[in-house]
Amino acid sequence: MTEFLPFALPDIGEEEIEEVVDSLRSGWLTTGPKTKRFEEDFATFVGDGVEAIAVNSATAGLHLALEAIGIGPGDEVITTPYTFTATAEVIRYLGAHPVFVDINPTTFNIDPLKIEKAITQRTKAIIPVHFAGLACDMDPIMAIAKKYGLKIVEDAAHSLPTTYHGKLIGTFESDATVYSFYVTKTIATGEGGMIVLRDAEIAKRCRVMRLHGINRDVFNRYATTKPSWHYEVVAPGFKYNMTDVAASLGIHQLKKARSFQKRRAEMAAYYDEAFSDLPVILPPKAPKNDLHAWHLYVLRLDPKVDISRDRFIESMAERGIGCSVHFIPLHLQPYWRDTYNLKPRDFPNALAVYERAVSLPLYTKMSGKDQARVVDTIREILE
Ligand SMILES: Cc1ncc(COP(=O)(O)O)c(C=O)c1O
Repeated sequence: MTEFLPFALPDIGEEEIEEVVDSLRSGWLTTGPKTKRFEEDFATFVGDGVEAIAVNSATAGLHLALEAIGIGPGDEVITTPYTFTATAEVIRYLGAHPVFVDINPTTFNIDPLKIEKAITQRTKAIIPVHFAGLACDMDPIMAIAKKYGLKIVEDAAHSLPTTYHGKLIGTFESDATVYSFYVTKTIATGEGGMIVLRDAEIAKRCRVMRLHGINRDVFNRYATTKPSWHYEVVAPGFKYNMTDVAASLGIHQLKKARSFQKRRAEMAAYYDEAFSDLPVILPPKAPKNDLHAWHLYVLRLDPKVDISRDRFIESMAERGIGCSVHFIPLHLQPYWRDTYNLKPRDFPNALAVYERAVSLPLYTKMSGKDQARVVDTIREILE
Protein backbone atom coordinates (compact mmCIF):
# COMPACT_ATOMS: atom_id res chain seq x y z
CA MET A 1 0.00 0.00 0.00
CA THR A 2 1.45 3.38 -0.97
CA GLU A 3 1.82 5.92 1.76
CA PHE A 4 -0.91 8.50 2.28
CA LEU A 5 -0.02 11.87 0.78
CA PRO A 6 -1.43 14.53 3.09
CA PHE A 7 -3.11 17.64 1.73
CA ALA A 8 -0.57 19.95 3.40
CA LEU A 9 2.61 19.81 5.48
CA PRO A 10 4.92 22.52 6.83
CA ASP A 11 8.56 22.70 5.65
CA ILE A 12 10.60 23.01 8.84
CA GLY A 13 14.41 22.93 8.59
CA GLU A 14 17.23 22.41 11.08
CA GLU A 15 17.63 26.21 11.42
CA GLU A 16 14.08 26.50 12.75
CA ILE A 17 14.65 23.58 15.15
CA GLU A 18 17.90 25.04 16.48
CA GLU A 19 16.29 28.44 16.95
CA VAL A 20 13.41 26.90 18.91
CA VAL A 21 15.88 24.98 21.08
CA ASP A 22 17.81 28.19 21.66
CA SER A 23 14.61 29.87 22.87
CA LEU A 24 13.82 26.92 25.13
CA ARG A 25 17.32 27.08 26.67
CA SER A 26 17.11 30.85 27.09
CA GLY A 27 13.93 30.60 29.14
CA TRP A 28 12.10 32.99 26.78
CA LEU A 29 9.00 31.01 26.02
CA THR A 30 6.59 33.88 25.63
CA THR A 31 6.97 37.25 23.87
CA GLY A 32 10.60 38.31 24.00
CA PRO A 33 13.63 39.09 21.84
CA LYS A 34 12.82 36.59 19.08
CA THR A 35 9.37 38.07 18.59
CA LYS A 36 10.91 41.53 18.37
CA ARG A 37 13.43 40.27 15.82
CA PHE A 38 10.71 38.56 13.76
CA GLU A 39 8.72 41.81 13.71
CA GLU A 40 11.76 43.78 12.57
CA ASP A 41 12.67 41.22 9.91
CA PHE A 42 9.08 41.13 8.68
CA ALA A 43 8.87 44.93 8.42
CA THR A 44 12.15 44.91 6.47
CA PHE A 45 10.87 42.15 4.20
CA VAL A 46 7.68 44.04 3.32
CA GLY A 47 9.64 47.32 3.07
CA ASP A 48 8.27 50.80 2.37
CA GLY A 49 8.73 51.79 6.03
CA VAL A 50 5.91 49.63 7.41
CA GLU A 51 5.61 48.53 11.02
CA ALA A 52 4.98 44.87 11.85
CA ILE A 53 3.13 43.61 14.93
CA ALA A 54 3.31 39.89 15.75
CA VAL A 55 0.21 38.14 17.06
CA ASN A 56 -0.83 34.57 17.81
CA SER A 57 -3.08 34.20 14.73
CA ALA A 58 -4.36 36.10 11.73
CA THR A 59 -7.78 35.98 13.38
CA ALA A 60 -6.32 37.91 16.34
CA GLY A 61 -4.59 40.31 13.94
CA LEU A 62 -7.78 41.03 11.99
CA HIS A 63 -9.67 41.59 15.23
CA LEU A 64 -7.03 43.98 16.57
CA ALA A 65 -6.83 45.89 13.30
CA LEU A 66 -10.60 46.35 13.07
CA GLU A 67 -10.77 47.42 16.72
CA ALA A 68 -7.92 49.88 16.26
CA ILE A 69 -9.51 51.56 13.23
CA GLY A 70 -12.66 52.08 15.28
CA ILE A 71 -15.12 49.45 14.06
CA GLY A 72 -17.94 49.14 16.60
CA PRO A 73 -21.54 48.04 17.20
CA GLY A 74 -23.89 48.53 14.25
CA ASP A 75 -21.15 49.30 11.73
CA GLU A 76 -21.03 47.43 8.43
CA VAL A 77 -17.90 45.93 6.95
CA ILE A 78 -17.90 44.69 3.34
CA THR A 79 -16.16 41.41 2.59
CA THR A 80 -16.36 38.26 0.48
CA PRO A 81 -18.33 35.09 1.23
CA TYR A 82 -15.52 33.09 -0.42
CA THR A 83 -13.25 33.01 2.63
CA PHE A 84 -12.67 31.31 5.95
CA THR A 85 -15.10 32.23 8.70
CA ALA A 86 -12.32 34.08 10.58
CA THR A 87 -12.54 36.99 8.12
CA ALA A 88 -16.17 37.63 9.05
CA GLU A 89 -16.28 36.48 12.68
CA VAL A 90 -13.91 39.25 13.80
CA ILE A 91 -16.46 41.78 12.53
CA ARG A 92 -19.06 40.19 14.81
CA TYR A 93 -16.60 40.23 17.78
CA LEU A 94 -16.97 44.03 17.64
CA GLY A 95 -20.76 44.01 17.31
CA ALA A 96 -20.52 45.07 13.66
CA HIS A 97 -22.03 43.26 10.66
CA PRO A 98 -20.39 41.74 7.61
CA VAL A 99 -21.98 42.65 4.30
CA PHE A 100 -21.05 40.01 1.76
CA VAL A 101 -20.30 40.86 -1.84
CA ASP A 102 -19.92 38.18 -4.52
CA ILE A 103 -16.63 37.25 -6.13
CA ASN A 104 -15.36 37.68 -9.64
CA PRO A 105 -15.83 34.19 -11.13
CA THR A 106 -12.42 34.26 -12.80
CA THR A 107 -10.19 35.39 -9.92
CA PHE A 108 -12.34 34.17 -6.98
CA ASN A 109 -11.60 37.55 -5.36
CA ILE A 110 -14.18 40.12 -4.26
CA ASP A 111 -15.70 41.92 -7.25
CA PRO A 112 -14.92 45.64 -6.93
CA LEU A 113 -17.87 46.49 -9.19
CA LYS A 114 -20.23 44.99 -6.62
CA ILE A 115 -18.64 46.69 -3.60
CA GLU A 116 -19.96 50.14 -4.43
CA LYS A 117 -23.56 48.87 -4.63
CA ALA A 118 -23.28 47.40 -1.12
CA ILE A 119 -22.25 50.66 0.56
CA THR A 120 -24.72 52.20 3.02
CA GLN A 121 -24.62 54.96 5.63
CA ARG A 122 -23.27 52.42 8.09
CA THR A 123 -20.42 51.06 5.97
CA LYS A 124 -17.10 51.71 7.66
CA ALA A 125 -14.58 49.36 6.07
CA ILE A 126 -13.75 46.79 3.41
CA ILE A 127 -11.84 43.54 4.01
CA PRO A 128 -10.48 42.28 0.70
CA VAL A 129 -9.17 38.70 0.88
CA HIS A 130 -6.35 37.80 -1.50
CA PHE A 131 -7.71 34.32 -2.12
CA ALA A 132 -5.21 31.46 -2.51
CA GLY A 133 -2.40 34.02 -2.78
CA LEU A 134 -3.64 35.94 -5.82
CA ALA A 135 -3.94 39.69 -5.21
CA CYS A 136 -7.34 41.37 -5.29
CA ASP A 137 -7.73 44.17 -7.79
CA MET A 138 -6.67 46.81 -5.27
CA ASP A 139 -6.80 49.95 -7.48
CA PRO A 140 -10.61 50.09 -7.77
CA ILE A 141 -11.00 48.93 -4.14
CA MET A 142 -8.74 51.74 -2.91
CA ALA A 143 -10.53 54.24 -5.16
CA ILE A 144 -13.94 53.23 -3.72
CA ALA A 145 -12.58 53.44 -0.17
CA LYS A 146 -11.26 56.92 -0.83
CA LYS A 147 -14.49 58.09 -2.47
CA TYR A 148 -16.67 56.95 0.46
CA GLY A 149 -14.17 57.52 3.29
CA LEU A 150 -13.91 53.81 4.14
CA LYS A 151 -11.06 51.98 5.85
CA ILE A 152 -9.39 48.93 4.34
CA VAL A 153 -8.00 45.95 6.28
CA GLU A 154 -6.47 43.40 3.90
CA ASP A 155 -6.81 39.74 4.77
CA ALA A 156 -3.43 38.52 3.52
CA ALA A 157 -3.63 35.15 5.30
CA HIS A 158 -2.79 33.42 1.98
CA SER A 159 -0.56 35.98 0.43
CA LEU A 160 3.04 36.11 1.49
CA PRO A 161 4.75 37.06 -0.82
CA THR A 162 2.03 38.20 -3.24
CA THR A 163 2.55 41.26 -5.43
CA TYR A 164 0.15 43.62 -7.17
CA HIS A 165 1.48 45.92 -9.88
CA GLY A 166 4.94 44.67 -8.92
CA LYS A 167 4.68 45.74 -5.25
CA LEU A 168 4.26 43.43 -2.28
CA ILE A 169 0.84 43.25 -0.66
CA GLY A 170 1.27 45.13 2.61
CA THR A 171 2.75 48.21 0.92
CA PHE A 172 -0.55 49.60 -0.38
CA GLU A 173 -2.59 52.41 1.11
CA SER A 174 -4.79 50.26 3.27
CA ASP A 175 -5.07 50.75 7.03
CA ALA A 176 -3.63 47.32 7.91
CA THR A 177 -2.66 44.05 6.24
CA VAL A 178 -2.83 40.81 8.20
CA TYR A 179 -0.86 37.61 7.48
CA SER A 180 -1.31 34.09 8.83
CA PHE A 181 1.41 31.62 9.80
CA TYR A 182 -0.97 28.78 10.54
CA VAL A 183 0.68 25.41 9.88
CA THR A 184 -0.59 25.06 6.29
CA LYS A 185 0.27 28.58 5.18
CA THR A 186 3.11 29.72 2.89
CA ILE A 187 5.31 30.29 5.94
CA ALA A 188 4.38 28.56 9.17
CA THR A 189 4.85 29.06 12.90
CA GLY A 190 2.14 26.55 13.91
CA GLU A 191 -0.16 29.32 15.03
CA GLY A 192 0.75 32.93 14.39
CA GLY A 193 0.07 36.09 12.45
CA MET A 194 1.42 39.54 11.65
CA ILE A 195 -0.23 42.93 11.29
CA VAL A 196 1.54 45.28 8.91
CA LEU A 197 0.63 48.97 8.90
CA ARG A 198 2.02 52.51 8.82
CA ASP A 199 -0.16 54.68 11.03
CA ALA A 200 1.54 55.19 14.40
CA GLU A 201 -1.71 55.61 16.34
CA ILE A 202 -3.31 52.45 14.91
CA ALA A 203 -0.07 50.56 15.60
CA LYS A 204 -0.01 51.79 19.19
CA ARG A 205 -3.61 50.73 19.75
CA CYS A 206 -2.91 47.27 18.29
CA ARG A 207 0.12 46.84 20.57
CA VAL A 208 -1.79 47.89 23.67
CA MET A 209 -4.83 45.74 22.89
CA ARG A 210 -2.65 42.77 21.93
CA LEU A 211 -1.72 42.38 25.58
CA HIS A 212 -4.61 43.06 27.97
CA GLY A 213 -4.77 46.79 27.25
CA ILE A 214 -1.50 47.22 29.10
CA ASN A 215 0.50 50.19 27.97
CA ARG A 216 3.79 48.32 27.61
CA ASP A 217 4.48 44.88 26.24
CA VAL A 218 6.10 42.01 28.12
CA PHE A 219 9.38 42.50 26.35
CA ASN A 220 9.85 45.94 27.85
CA ARG A 221 8.45 44.94 31.20
CA TYR A 222 10.90 42.12 31.78
CA ALA A 223 13.94 43.12 29.74
CA THR A 224 14.33 46.68 30.91
CA THR A 225 17.37 47.43 33.09
CA LYS A 226 15.30 49.58 35.43
CA PRO A 227 13.33 47.72 38.09
CA SER A 228 9.89 47.74 36.62
CA TRP A 229 6.81 46.17 38.09
CA HIS A 230 4.52 49.06 37.31
CA TYR A 231 2.10 49.07 34.40
CA GLU A 232 -1.16 50.70 33.49
CA VAL A 233 -4.26 49.06 32.12
CA VAL A 234 -5.90 51.52 29.76
CA ALA A 235 -8.53 49.26 28.12
CA PRO A 236 -10.02 45.75 28.44
CA GLY A 237 -7.61 44.24 25.92
CA PHE A 238 -6.96 40.76 24.58
CA LYS A 239 -4.31 38.04 24.94
CA TYR A 240 -3.01 37.92 21.40
CA ASN A 241 0.79 38.08 21.76
CA MET A 242 3.09 35.78 19.80
CA THR A 243 5.43 33.46 21.71
CA ASP A 244 9.19 33.43 21.14
CA VAL A 245 8.93 29.72 20.34
CA ALA A 246 6.66 30.57 17.39
CA ALA A 247 8.79 33.56 16.40
CA SER A 248 11.86 31.28 16.33
CA LEU A 249 10.17 29.37 13.53
CA GLY A 250 9.02 32.56 11.82
CA ILE A 251 12.49 34.13 11.66
CA HIS A 252 13.80 31.27 9.52
CA GLN A 253 10.61 30.62 7.60
CA LEU A 254 10.60 34.26 6.50
CA LYS A 255 14.10 33.89 5.06
CA LYS A 256 12.73 31.11 2.86
CA ALA A 257 9.54 32.91 1.80
CA ARG A 258 10.92 33.75 -1.64
CA SER A 259 12.37 30.32 -2.37
CA PHE A 260 9.16 28.68 -1.13
CA GLN A 261 7.13 30.90 -3.48
CA LYS A 262 9.40 30.02 -6.40
CA ARG A 263 8.97 26.32 -5.72
CA ARG A 264 5.20 26.60 -5.29
CA ALA A 265 4.96 28.53 -8.59
CA GLU A 266 6.97 25.79 -10.34
CA MET A 267 4.70 23.16 -8.86
CA ALA A 268 1.58 25.07 -9.94
CA ALA A 269 3.00 25.34 -13.47
CA TYR A 270 3.66 21.59 -13.47
CA TYR A 271 0.03 20.90 -12.55
CA ASP A 272 -1.23 23.37 -15.18
CA GLU A 273 0.77 21.64 -17.87
CA ALA A 274 -0.23 18.16 -16.73
CA PHE A 275 -3.95 18.98 -16.63
CA SER A 276 -4.08 20.97 -19.85
CA ASP A 277 -5.90 18.21 -21.78
CA LEU A 278 -8.25 17.16 -18.97
CA PRO A 279 -11.86 18.32 -18.46
CA VAL A 280 -10.91 20.74 -15.68
CA ILE A 281 -10.64 24.49 -15.25
CA LEU A 282 -7.18 25.61 -14.16
CA PRO A 283 -6.72 28.14 -11.34
CA PRO A 284 -6.46 31.85 -12.17
CA LYS A 285 -2.97 33.25 -12.72
CA ALA A 286 -1.28 36.42 -11.56
CA PRO A 287 -0.66 39.00 -14.29
CA LYS A 288 2.77 38.82 -15.92
CA ASN A 289 5.42 40.33 -13.61
CA ASP A 290 3.32 39.72 -10.49
CA LEU A 291 3.72 37.01 -7.86
CA HIS A 292 1.00 34.57 -6.89
CA ALA A 293 1.88 33.13 -3.46
CA TRP A 294 0.24 29.79 -4.42
CA HIS A 295 -0.96 29.02 -0.92
CA LEU A 296 -3.64 26.94 -2.67
CA TYR A 297 -3.99 25.26 -6.04
CA VAL A 298 -7.73 25.20 -6.66
CA LEU A 299 -8.72 23.07 -9.61
CA ARG A 300 -12.32 23.04 -10.85
CA LEU A 301 -13.96 20.04 -12.43
CA ASP A 302 -15.59 20.92 -15.71
CA PRO A 303 -19.39 20.98 -15.30
CA LYS A 304 -19.54 18.40 -18.13
CA VAL A 305 -17.57 15.84 -16.10
CA ASP A 306 -19.81 13.12 -14.83
CA ILE A 307 -18.49 12.95 -11.27
CA SER A 308 -19.48 15.09 -8.34
CA ARG A 309 -16.80 17.11 -6.59
CA ASP A 310 -17.44 15.20 -3.35
CA ARG A 311 -17.11 11.82 -5.07
CA PHE A 312 -13.91 13.01 -6.76
CA ILE A 313 -12.37 13.89 -3.37
CA GLU A 314 -13.47 10.54 -1.97
CA SER A 315 -11.84 8.76 -4.93
CA MET A 316 -8.61 10.67 -4.32
CA ALA A 317 -8.70 9.68 -0.63
CA GLU A 318 -9.36 6.03 -1.54
CA ARG A 319 -6.17 6.20 -3.62
CA GLY A 320 -4.23 7.74 -0.71
CA ILE A 321 -4.24 11.44 -1.63
CA GLY A 322 -5.59 14.17 0.62
CA CYS A 323 -7.51 17.02 -1.00
CA SER A 324 -9.57 19.85 0.45
CA VAL A 325 -12.14 22.47 -0.48
CA HIS A 326 -11.58 26.21 -0.22
CA PHE A 327 -13.99 27.42 0.76
CA ILE A 328 -17.49 26.42 1.74
CA PRO A 329 -18.86 29.93 1.12
CA LEU A 330 -19.91 31.64 4.32
CA HIS A 331 -23.48 32.20 3.13
CA LEU A 332 -23.99 28.41 3.20
CA GLN A 333 -22.77 28.11 6.80
CA PRO A 334 -25.61 27.89 9.35
CA TYR A 335 -24.54 30.85 11.48
CA TRP A 336 -24.07 33.31 8.61
CA ARG A 337 -27.00 31.95 6.61
CA ASP A 338 -29.46 32.17 9.50
CA THR A 339 -28.20 35.41 11.08
CA TYR A 340 -28.35 37.34 7.81
CA ASN A 341 -31.09 35.34 6.08
CA LEU A 342 -28.85 34.44 3.15
CA LYS A 343 -29.87 32.16 0.29
CA PRO A 344 -27.52 29.94 -1.75
CA ARG A 345 -28.26 31.95 -4.91
CA ASP A 346 -27.45 35.29 -3.27
CA PHE A 347 -23.83 34.79 -4.31
CA PRO A 348 -24.02 32.81 -7.55
CA ASN A 349 -20.34 33.11 -8.44
CA ALA A 350 -19.12 31.93 -5.04
CA LEU A 351 -21.62 29.07 -5.18
CA ALA A 352 -20.65 28.01 -8.70
CA VAL A 353 -16.92 28.00 -7.95
CA TYR A 354 -17.41 26.15 -4.67
CA GLU A 355 -19.53 23.37 -6.21
CA ARG A 356 -16.74 22.24 -8.55
CA ALA A 357 -13.61 23.29 -6.58
CA VAL A 358 -10.94 20.93 -5.29
CA SER A 359 -7.75 22.10 -3.58
CA LEU A 360 -4.89 19.77 -4.52
CA PRO A 361 -1.80 19.10 -2.40
CA LEU A 362 0.81 21.80 -3.15
CA TYR A 363 3.65 22.27 -0.69
CA THR A 364 7.43 22.39 -0.81
CA LYS A 365 7.87 19.10 1.08
CA MET A 366 6.25 17.26 -1.84
CA SER A 367 8.64 15.54 -4.20
CA GLY A 368 8.36 15.46 -7.99
CA LYS A 369 7.23 11.87 -7.57
CA ASP A 370 4.46 12.91 -5.19
CA GLN A 371 3.22 15.43 -7.71
CA ALA A 372 3.36 12.93 -10.55
CA ARG A 373 1.31 10.58 -8.40
CA VAL A 374 -1.35 13.25 -7.90
CA VAL A 375 -1.48 13.83 -11.66
CA ASP A 376 -1.68 10.12 -12.51
CA THR A 377 -4.41 9.56 -9.95
CA ILE A 378 -6.49 12.43 -11.30
CA ARG A 379 -6.09 11.09 -14.85
CA GLU A 380 -7.19 7.67 -13.68
CA ILE A 381 -10.31 9.09 -12.03
CA LEU A 382 -11.30 11.45 -14.83
CA GLU A 383 -10.49 9.28 -17.83
C1 LIG B 1 -8.64 33.84 4.38
C2 LIG B 1 -8.28 33.54 5.79
N1 LIG B 1 -8.33 34.53 6.69
C3 LIG B 1 -8.01 34.32 7.98
C4 LIG B 1 -7.61 33.09 8.43
C5 LIG B 1 -7.30 32.90 9.87
O1 LIG B 1 -5.95 32.60 10.06
P1 LIG B 1 -5.44 32.06 11.48
O2 LIG B 1 -5.65 30.60 11.48
O3 LIG B 1 -3.98 32.43 11.49
O4 LIG B 1 -6.19 32.78 12.53
C6 LIG B 1 -7.54 32.03 7.53
C7 LIG B 1 -7.13 30.70 8.00
O5 LIG B 1 -7.16 29.70 7.36
C8 LIG B 1 -7.89 32.25 6.18
O6 LIG B 1 -7.85 31.26 5.27
